[in-house]
Amino acid sequence: MQIYKVGGAVRDRLLGRPVSDVDWLVVGATVEQMQAEGFRPVGADFPVFLHPRTGEEYALARTERKSGRGYGGFTFHASPEVTLEEDLVRRDLTINAMAEDEHGNLHDPYHGKADLEQRLLRHVSPAFAEDPLRVLRVARFAARYAPLGFRVADETLQLMRQIAESGELQALTAERSWKEIERALMESEPQVFIEVLRSCGGLSELMPELEGASTLAALHQAARHQQPLAVRWACLLRGLQPAALKALNQRFKAPRECQELAMLVGEFAERADQAPQLEPASLLEMLQKFDVYRRPKRFEDFIAACEMAALGSEYPQGEYLRGAAEAARAVDVKPLLEAGLAGQGLGEALKGERLKALEAYKAA
Ligand code: CTP
Repeated sequence: MQIYKVGGAVRDRLLGRPVSDVDWLVVGATVEQMQAEGFRPVGADFPVFLHPRTGEEYALARTERKSGRGYGGFTFHASPEVTLEEDLVRRDLTINAMAEDEHGNLHDPYHGKADLEQRLLRHVSPAFAEDPLRVLRVARFAARYAPLGFRVADETLQLMRQIAESGELQALTAERSWKEIERALMESEPQVFIEVLRSCGGLSELMPELEGASTLAALHQAARHQQPLAVRWACLLRGLQPAALKALNQRFKAPRECQELAMLVGEFAERADQAPQLEPASLLEMLQKFDVYRRPKRFEDFIAACEMAALGSEYPQGEYLRGAAEAARAVDVKPLLEAGLAGQGLGEALKGERLKALEAYKAA
């Protein structure tokens, strides 16, 4: 058997980028041989094994053929006869279809190295179309490598357009799509992900709500400031109507934190922008809705999302809101308890005290 390092590890080493996880490809071996060598089988769908010592993934060389719609519609063929070239040709991009043998020699039948040098994201073969998720992957790689000057090859964009037109993107599961979206949002130029999807027609298939959205600037700003995922998602969705927000959240089963923040930004961003002019009652209503007493981090994320939308201009409203939350939080419940208040009465009294605190804060 021959063992090759493949995929992202080869690509990122050539790019001089840190390599996080290494995938290995095994040519000329059977499942039985692998097990006899102590590898533990893990793949439910494909013959993939974990190395007994390092825990890294080793996959048997395979060919793949699409047999139906969606991700389930795959048949694969793994056998010791499948060659390195046959395995590499079914992969998505030329830069992901390089292999390195145990002597460190590069095997690059589809000219991935030349495409790396030309900064091109180019598909390997028509087999690209067999997994529509690759449309999202290419957009994600474009976002990741934009700072290095990468772009999508024209013929690949054309193929992505055909896949989008076929309607196949809608057959992707929420989980697979979200994983790509999440990773793309965490890249350094996440707006490029959306731009690439838009330019191939994928955006109107996956997120039609964003088609008319005017700007990706807040999202870009959030990446520049290394904001967490929920803030980036909220920045992307900023300005959408509640129904559109809800639809997007649900379509991709976004994590609760992301869903909540996007909805809260939708509901309260305008109010936040006016914070110093707000009546204390309106300010209090907002703080109560955020539950700033028990969820301070969520309110911070909200302020961050509002700040990002200011695109680097001063956002004094942020400090004002922090101060207001502080003032409301400082109200002591103890004297109210000592006065014998409980239940709804206590809640009302606490609210009254907080309102007074906000009136004093505004007056100060
Ligand atoms: N691959 C593919 N089509 C997919 C998923 C993966 O062709 N839909 C192939 C590519 O050759 C890829 C390899 O499998 O390089 C490993 O995939 P994965 O670990 O998802 O990505 P990496 O390329 O390693 O990139 P990342 O740095 O994003 O993990």
